Amino acid sequence: MQNVTVVDHPLVAHKLTHLRKMETPSREFRELVKELSSLMAWEVTKHFPLKDVDIETPICKTTQKVLAEKDVVIVPILRAGLGMVEGFTNIIPKAKIGHVGLYRDPETLKAVEYYKKLPTDISEREAIIVDPMLATGVSVIYTIKILKDAGCKNIKVVHILACPEGLKAVTAAYPEIPIFCAAIDDRLNEHAYIVPGLGDAGDRLFGTK
Ligand code: URA
Repeated sequence: MQNVTVVDHPLVAHKLTHLRKMETPSREFRELVKELSSLMAWEVTKHFPLKDVDIETPICKTTQKVLAEKDVVIVPILRAGLGMVEGFTNIIPKAKIGHVGLYRDPETLKAVEYYKKLPTDISEREAIIVDPMLATGVSVIYTIKILKDAGCKNIKVVHILACPEGLKAVTAAYPEIPIFCAAIDDRLNEHAYIVPGLGDAGDRLFGTK
């Protein structure tokens, strides 16, 4: 899948292993999700444009690079996506945050929207959707549609863990959208959990189980 980037770095692999372990407590789980998000943000922002500036060092005048202003919106899918926000805003402090709340109807298995609050200037911003787990792909496909309907032209998606089923669904629906993840696991089980995965990311982040 040409638009899928697995962020391949020893620190990412190390932190991901600790995140997966069932004995990792919520406090540490939250910290690891934040750290992994910041590490992945390096890769996601690799294309950010630079511009020249004239500066003076203690030695001489010189022309060097700084980031050209780039307007970004981070869009966590509630609730687990919230765990990734701080890791991204640490790297992109000026980013605005838009929220999308979805649940899966247990009968139709379709995404149902219960909350949406996006910046009014979202159509001029690069959108980075964050959700730790790409399982069936239903939530992220729905969120991409919300952002496209809001006028977003530049959308990226970042997960910590993905699986082949979810990647196939999202890339079939939106082949043009870049997806970043720290690992692609084996498969989904009959309860739509990623295997080997890490369990329920929302429950582990917020200690609700
Ligand atoms: N959501 C989770 O939190 N975990 C999974 O394994 C799949 C979806």
